[in-house]
Amino acid sequence: MSDFDRVIRGGLIVTGNDLVRADVGIRGETIAAIGLDLPTTGAAITDAGGLLVMPGGIDTHCHIEQLEPDGSSYEDSFAHASAACFAGGTTSIITFAAQFKGQRLGPVVAEYHRRAARGMVDYSFHQIINDPFDAIIEQDIPEVVGAGIRSLKVFLTYDDVRVDDRQYLRVLAAARRSGALVAVHAENYDAIAWMTEALLKAGMTAPKYHAWGRPTVIEREATHRAIALAELIDQPIQIFHVSGPEPAAEIARAQARGVKVWGETCPQYLVLEAADMDRPGFEGAKFICSPAPRTKAESEGLWEAIRAGTIDIVSSDHSGHSFGKEGVGKRRNGTDVPFTRIPNGVPGLAARLPIVFSEGVSKGRIDVQSFVRLTSTNPAKLFGLYPRKGTVAPGADADLVLWDPAKRVTITNGLMQHAIDYTPYEGLEVVGWPVMTIARGRLVMRDDVVTAEPGSARFLARGPYDMIKPRGVFPNGFDTSRVMT
Ligand code: URP
Ligand code: ZN
Ligand code: ZN
Repeated sequence: MSDFDRVIRGGLIVTGNDLVRADVGIRGETIAAIGLDLPTTGAAITDAGGLLVMPGGIDTHCHIEQLEPDGSSYEDSFAHASAACFAGGTTSIITFAAQFKGQRLGPVVAEYHRRAARGMVDYSFHQIINDPFDAIIEQDIPEVVGAGIRSLKVFLTYDDVRVDDRQYLRVLAAARRSGALVAVHAENYDAIAWMTEALLKAGMTAPKYHAWGRPTVIEREATHRAIALAELIDQPIQIFHVSGPEPAAEIARAQARGVKVWGETCPQYLVLEAADMDRPGFEGAKFICSPAPRTKAESEGLWEAIRAGTIDIVSSDHSGHSFGKEGVGKRRNGTDVPFTRIPNGVPGLAARLPIVFSEGVSKGRIDVQSFVRLTSTNPAKLFGLYPRKGTVAPGADADLVLWDPAKRVTITNGLMQHAIDYTPYEGLEVVGWPVMTIARGRLVMRDDVVTAEPGSARFLARGPYDMIKPRGVFPNGFDTSRVMT
């Protein structure tokens, strides 16, 4: 009888803390042993000489088959998104179940489960709350959190989906009572509306004015407010897609006074710029996302915030809007339209790990353990998946990426394996590339070829965990979440 189904031999294992040269023995879906010269009789042998062996990436911010209030949908299916994940070394995702006005959460969650189960990559959801009416606050949020969806998401901007401050407070208090984290899109709705109206009146409608309509100060203000209101309720939050050092500084100040707030950024804020939206014709639409990409100097400021630990997760915010198809994606409303009518978001599931590795580790900005923390271990810890996911250890799921740190690749859309017809990172040269992905013991990608069965995805129910427990610190010691619903 064999000790293991697969033994990965001779690689350099990287976790969030350590570097160790050892073999990894996999039995079934889990890591059974780590050690020197593990027995290989009857096992598949994978030679990892010259490679890094790291926990599979965990992408805690990606929009997949998500419905929009106008009846459209993010284009990538769960099957395509799963292929993109495996191609890029990611083995788990947290995507979204989106509530619209008037909807109860039960049927919403059931529908997204139905969709996600058709994929191959392990998944959980953030529950988007657009309309926190009484039944949502009193019945549905406790129910979905109890069913393992231990994070809620709110937008402080965007027509049709944003919550106002009072509604945000309600969601924070409900999350506190149920033991869920709240993730926040922090930009000031009214200020964006004001700026947008002014731009349109002045005839400034080209894609580049997307960035003018939502300058950093608008994000900084909303980040400050999102944190201040969370502090009022004593509710832990994560700020999504921090685009530069100004909002990051708001997070750092709050962290310094002990507030439980975490910051996420995304590859688009590390390698794209506002100037990309100024490419000729409609080309700039490829780069429209919110918050908007900023400047090279601000990207460098984000790396400083990463090194300081203020920002501790890099997710993709993968948003599948194709570019070249008439009537859908970025061209949903045509091409001769103001920037306000171009869908927001860029695809990035497969590009995330290579970009963070290349810009981070290969260019000497961070060490390789930091890379693992940013892309796998910290997401697992913050969202209640650790230590089943996010590390290489006996008993953990056998979710691994074997990485060639010296492989030089020019990113092209074909390598991304999503259903979208472009990548905003086309032509970017990266050093470091995933050569094999193993998900729960299954070999799902080798040399850019994905082999996984649609329908093999598994839901990751997330129970209570200490990291997101409130501190018990309130202004005047008054816990309003006990008396207000
Ligand atoms: O532009 C973006 N980020 N689109 C996706 C939705 C969101 O705000 O996360
Ligand atoms: Zn957002
Ligand atoms: Zn998003």
